[in-house]
Amino acid sequence: MQLSGNWNYPTAIRFGAGRASELPALCRELNIKRPLIVTDPGLARLPLIARLTDYLLSANLVADVFCDLRPNPVGRDVEAGVDAYRAGAYDGIVAVGGGSAIDVGKAIALMVGQKHPLWEFEDVDDNWTRVHVAGMAPVIAVPTTAGTGSEVGRASLIIDESEHRKVIIFHPAMLPKIVLADPELTIGLPPHLTAATGIDAFVHNLEAFCSPLYHPLAQGVALQGMKLVHDWLPRAYADGTDIEARSHMLAASIMGATAFQKGLGGVHALSHPIGAVFDTHHGLANAVMLPYVLQRNRAAVKDSLAEAAHYIGLADTSFDGFLDWVLQLRSQLGIPHSLAEIGIDASRADEIGRMAKLDPSDGSNPVELTPDDYSALFCAAVEGKIDG
Ligand SMILES: [Fe+2]
Repeated sequence: MQLSGNWNYPTAIRFGAGRASELPALCRELNIKRPLIVTDPGLARLPLIARLTDYLLSANLVADVFCDLRPNPVGRDVEAGVDAYRAGAYDGIVAVGGGSAIDVGKAIALMVGQKHPLWEFEDVDDNWTRVHVAGMAPVIAVPTTAGTGSEVGRASLIIDESEHRKVIIFHPAMLPKIVLADPELTIGLPPHLTAATGIDAFVHNLEAFCSPLYHPLAQGVALQGMKLVHDWLPRAYADGTDIEARSHMLAASIMGATAFQKGLGGVHALSHPIGAVFDTHHGLANAVMLPYVLQRNRAAVKDSLAEAAHYIGLADTSFDGFLDWVLQLRSQLGIPHSLAEIGIDASRADEIGRMAKLDPSDGSNPVELTPDDYSALFCAAVEGKIDG
């Protein structure tokens, strides 16, 4: 099968190995003549960014790089990017990277045209209606990880340092105009990041699938997304140059973020504050937390997970069979079993519990969880004890 195509759901996606060279044509399609490449400092040093810049320059497009951003980006990163964008009179953003760089790229594109400060666009009530849409810059998103799926998302996660809180900045028009999804760009991802980002993609599909909200389109996408991770993540982890595995994982990542318009759940409700407080890698926090939250949700999700287990081809299609497979996959991918193993202790459990309850992902967890429940889950994950 040719693993390449032009997809228009949920946005325009140019998918396939070797397609990064189409970047100048896509800029022209959006009438971008002076693109600002937004990426992270690690990627900025790699030949990949030089190659993308060369493509643009050889097509007579001015292209500069902004890379002054953190792995868990903060408001100052966005402000610096907005300043750079204005100073260089750019007319579009090419956001290249994992979730951090793409989130910052999308937030810069939003903020170059607004009068309100960033935090006034938090995804609360109808804040998004304040956005001056015509002022926003067009974004081409170029993912280099298969995990967050930020390239097909309508929000950015930015930390408000004054509150140590991950804030969701949302507007429907933050969905990038075009996604350039070239699996060759994910080949350089080392195994531990392939694992952590791959599990993040899996959790997006899983939490969307288990969300009690009605969204049958997302349900179908989520089921196939989980199967792709089951079939291909171990191969992408074992051999990072396996382009077939990298292609299917990039698709699974796009599918996860498409599906989670149906909602996320307790894993993300906890991993957001864990990331904000301990600066933990988002995918890693999800990967550690996943089995603890699954077990806590057991009564509400056992039937739907039996359905998923059957579809993805597990030998034991019971809830326990699904949980056992998750635990086995995690250990196969070298993911630690407890938060203690990544240097997190339980001293801030109450705070994490309160923050998890306030996280928007809490609302679509299949069972009601109180702040104390979240604190208990966090403590269980610190100790490595899965109840039941
Ligand atoms: Fe995530």
